[in-house]
Amino acid sequence: MKKILVIGGLGQIGSELTAEFNHCYGNNNVVVADAVDDKNGIVKNNVFEKIDVTDFNAVESTIKRHNIDTIINLAAILSASGEKNPDLAWRVNIDGLLNVIRLGIQYKLDRVMVPSSIAVFGPQSVLYNTPQETVLTPNTMYGVTKVIGEMLGDYYFKKHGLDFRGIRYPGIISHTTLPGGGTTDYAVEIFYEALKHKTYNCFLSAEACLPMMYMPDCVRGTLELLEADRSQLKRCGNYNLSAMSFSPEDLAAEIRKHIPEFTISYAPDFRNEIAKYWPASIDDSAARAEWGWKPEWDMSAMVADMLKEVAKKVIK
Ligand code: NAD
Ligand code: SER
Repeated sequence: MKKILVIGGLGQIGSELTAEFNHCYGNNNVVVADAVDDKNGIVKNNVFEKIDVTDFNAVESTIKRHNIDTIINLAAILSASGEKNPDLAWRVNIDGLLNVIRLGIQYKLDRVMVPSSIAVFGPQSVLYNTPQETVLTPNTMYGVTKVIGEMLGDYYFKKHGLDFRGIRYPGIISHTTLPGGGTTDYAVEIFYEALKHKTYNCFLSAEACLPMMYMPDCVRGTLELLEADRSQLKRCGNYNLSAMSFSPEDLAAEIRKHIPEFTISYAPDFRNEIAKYWPASIDDSAARAEWGWKPEWDMSAMVADMLKEVAKKVIK
């Protein structure tokens, strides 16, 4: 890997992954792209390209102009936004992905990384300690695009040798950039509301237990898979990855250890129907065995750190 293009680099994961890439590879070797302007000044030390991943020519000219040999494609419409606009979710998550794959083959890129999600699972999947291999019957357009994305990655690896890699991320919790329209976003919002108002009205039900991960583990795991020797890997874009699992009720109880007067109420909406058919916990033994994955953050350490970091933003 010499020159990395991070598409969707202004988002929740992209903004933090870019910082780590800068640290590991040098900011001159990392180009950030996104469909929107960088209004919040997220990109400080990198070349920024405003491109839409669904625009083949724009992605191609960016690859050529910067001699890109690795693409991390994070451009996506997430689960809740995708249910509001399934056509857009298809265009960005599938048409955009196919542009990246075709250009990856055409320009013989070293590797292409595209995240998948726990949204690939659904009502017929095993939802407790969900195995690497199980029935995939997603109940959202987002999940449908993620299953197809995994299959396309596998297909083009086998047919054309494209080194395609990806993780089925659980809900990602972070404090640098807000999440972008997912079902697990409550687990970030709750910290802002707990610190600002000491109360939170949750859009999932009290017992909706989901797998989650703190951003430092997400960034480290992504880098570890990106760097892993291909000969170690038995699969492409579908690694299960686990760190912690909790429900809104569990999270509220942990926050109360720091803010005793914190209260939570529940007004489940359409996102609760999505969460109902996602796993409660994940078996990530393949990632552990093939590339040495091991999480470092549990719920209590994550909550303490989130409260400390979010407080710096909301309490002035
Ligand atoms: P995000 O919504 O925060 O960021 C996505 C970025 O893509 C945004 O900056 C957006 O402007 C950009 N984008 C959207 N459409 C685009 C287009 N047509 N062309 C170029 N850029 C476009 O999402 P995220 O949370 O950072 O997710 C990154 C990846 O990780 C996605 O593939 C997502 O499915 C996956 N993932 C995220 C989570 C999570 O909890 N954050 C969990 C599972 C999987
Ligand atoms: N956090 C993501 C979402 O809720 C999972 O892919 O959409």
